[in-house]
Amino acid sequence: MKLLLLGKGGQVGWELQRSLAPLGELVALSSGSTEFHADFSQPERLAETVHAIRPDVIVNAGAHTAVDKAESEADLARRLNATAPGVLAQAANDIGALMVHYSTDYVFDGGGTRPWTEADATGPLSVYGSTKLEGEELVARHCARHLIFRTSWVYAARGGNFAKTMLRLAKEREQLTVIDDQFGAPTGAELIADVTAHAIAQTLREPEKAGLYHLVADGETTWNRYARFVLDQARAAGVELKAASSAVAPVPTSAFPTPAKRPHNSRLNTAKVKSAFGVNLPHWQVGVARMLREIL
Ligand SMILES: NC(=O)c1ccc[n+]([C@@H]2O[C@H](COP(=O)([O-])OP(=O)(O)OC[C@H]3O[C@@H](n4cnc5c(N)ncnc54)[C@H](OP(=O)(O)O)[C@@H]3O)[C@@H](O)[C@H]2O)c1
Repeated sequence: MKLLLLGKGGQVGWELQRSLAPLGELVALSSGSTEFHADFSQPERLAETVHAIRPDVIVNAGAHTAVDKAESEADLARRLNATAPGVLAQAANDIGALMVHYSTDYVFDGGGTRPWTEADATGPLSVYGSTKLEGEELVARHCARHLIFRTSWVYAARGGNFAKTMLRLAKEREQLTVIDDQFGAPTGAELIADVTAHAIAQTLREPEKAGLYHLVADGETTWNRYARFVLDQARAAGVELKAASSAVAPVPTSAFPTPAKRPHNSRLNTAKVKSAFGVNLPHWQVGVARMLREIL
């Protein structure tokens, strides 16, 4: 079996390089690949790449993920988040491949407190959210054999992340201010990549499992409580910090105006992915504690 991975250098892409490798021959490309065209800003050329490689599975981890920047470069965000996945899905359909794609909690308007299910109405608040929603719709329309995973608050040990920023600030300052009115689940790129590999193997055997799934770690938190957890873990590991977790002041989102509006309720209901694929999704603190042990 042959798998084509796009966006191999991102948080999820990096972990997919590991988790997809045992499934078959893996061709992993970054946007700058010189061997094959893999730059989503010229989406129409992606079909050539798919036809040249002829994979059994296409996994798209590439995206325009700079949520605030997307507000001022909507055309580029749309090419990367919608047109390119649509071209990949059409090409996957042409060669009979399974198309795997990722989306986001930002497709919802963030109202209420109930965790969103896959059947709930969408209502994106930002360019990022609306282009990601369009990407989902194009993938589903062009390739019936698809897996789309909506996830949230993704982190990885590699590269920058929220926990590293909080640790840096807590070493510099005695008091931090972190928003406390957005609810969601920090989800490790490792977990997303592992469940993806598991779901691909099952869907190749049982095609009726194709579809849209919410995939996040268990439990819920706010950015403020997430920051406090990170500082508590770091202190327990002997890291010297100026700010204790009790010095992380809660503020509303309005205290930090940003170009893109964020949903307040990013809770995603994961009952469907758990029952379809028989997976267990550990509590978010398990994955964050593990990532901290790697970086501290
Ligand atoms: N980050 C989050 O909190 C979050 C939350 C919900 C959903 N998601 C979704 O999860 C998926 C993975 O996100 P992530 O956090 O792993 O993203 P990421 O770390 O920002 O990586 C995105 C990757 O997209 C690729 N890319 C960027 N511009 C490209 C271009 N012009 N052509 C082709 N590829 C390009 C790059 O891959 P190369 O470096 O290999 O070129 C980049 O590393 C995305 O679909 C994202 O929308 C993310």
